[in-house]
Amino acid sequence: MRMVDLIGKKKRGEALGEEEIAFFVDGCTRGEIPDYQTAAFLMAVCFRGMSREERAILTEKMALSGETVDLSSLPRTADKHSTGGVGDLTTLVTAPIAAAAGLSVAKMSGRGLGHTGGTVDKLESIPGYRTSLSEAEFLGQVKKIGLAVVGQTADLAPADKKLYALRDVTDTVDSIPLIASSIMSKKLAAGAGSVVLDVKYGSGAFMKTPEDALDLARAMVEIGVAHGRKMAALVTSMEFPLAPWIGNAIEVRGAARILRGEDPKGYGIRTVAVRLAGEMLSLALSIPAQEGLARAEAILSDGRAYRKFREWIGAQGGDVSAIEEDRLPRAPYTRTVLSPAEGWITRADTGKIGTSACLLGAGRVKKEDSPDLAAGLELSFVPCGRAEKGQPLCVMHASDPAKFDGAEELFLEALTFSDAPADPPALIRETVRGAEDPIF
Ligand code: URA
Repeated sequence: MRMVDLIGKKKRGEALGEEEIAFFVDGCTRGEIPDYQTAAFLMAVCFRGMSREERAILTEKMALSGETVDLSSLPRTADKHSTGGVGDLTTLVTAPIAAAAGLSVAKMSGRGLGHTGGTVDKLESIPGYRTSLSEAEFLGQVKKIGLAVVGQTADLAPADKKLYALRDVTDTVDSIPLIASSIMSKKLAAGAGSVVLDVKYGSGAFMKTPEDALDLARAMVEIGVAHGRKMAALVTSMEFPLAPWIGNAIEVRGAARILRGEDPKGYGIRTVAVRLAGEMLSLALSIPAQEGLARAEAILSDGRAYRKFREWIGAQGGDVSAIEEDRLPRAPYTRTVLSPAEGWITRADTGKIGTSACLLGAGRVKKEDSPDLAAGLELSFVPCGRAEKGQPLCVMHASDPAKFDGAEELFLEALTFSDAPADPPALIRETVRGAEDPIF
């Protein structure tokens, strides 16, 4: 078999068979296919797409390119994944709800990517929290308390690591078969029997329109179902930040506030976190979605989720009192940004708000950077709410005051002030479910 022939086939829009896809994935993983051929193939996929069968096979081969996690000793295994957003701290709320309901959540999470945050970076802001556990510790903790969250190991879907690095520099990231196979290969390798996806659209997301997000959601649900997983996906808005907290320690503090009962006005964090947990319960316990939602809501409201959160953080070495007594990292400098105008804040470029937090130090400029765990933004405006001139819009946190000017400029550029009010965008646009169970 020759790679040049596979590139030619895909260039002409023909479908590839299992052996051909295996040849490509194995060759990439072993470093036997030169980058120029891989890049040409990826570009052909961007233009020609892939059939349902091709996507399912590509994902499986990528999942099997490295280690896979065997969760068969655990009951009711459940995972969740967000395609990435700003102020998206849902895992910190959703995972404890699911575990408190009796699910086994053995989760591998990622780090921040571009302007979007990553759960592992957030957890590292808790003193003592261990994001790396041995397999025995990881499985043992989930068996005992139902929940562990660690960073992805280097050997999880190594084919994806190679492909992603090339996609990043050849403008071939935004292809539905490539995104779907990238995300789902890691979910399949991580082993859970049911997976709930939060597929985001809007200015702060990979997918800019709800239609594209729905296509991606359907593609990923199909792939999971083809591999015997119970699947659901929500298509949710990233037209405003999901929460008023953006930054690593800032988001952990925010998660504790949600778990203690807050629901910040105009922001979707609580609603989306509970809906995701409800879908996880529905899939893993085979109960109707409405019942899953009602149970998730009760577990959050009556404090069981907050108890599970503390148990989880403590079990993984984290200093729970640092959260309860507000001793998480704090930046030495703050600046309050005041509204330059009066009007209704009807739109936000959420990508710019996320980038503003990165400029303060919360994200990475280069892959090898360590984020400043204390840096970020606390927003005080209400999405689609009214702002008066001179009113505080946010508090910026940084370790270096020289960072404030650039971050403030970008933050203000992100906001649109209108003379007339507008309705807030719908938060959850679609639900795609894929289990073959008659209750659906
Ligand atoms: N996240 C991933 O893991 N892969 C993609 O291709 C896009 C987002």
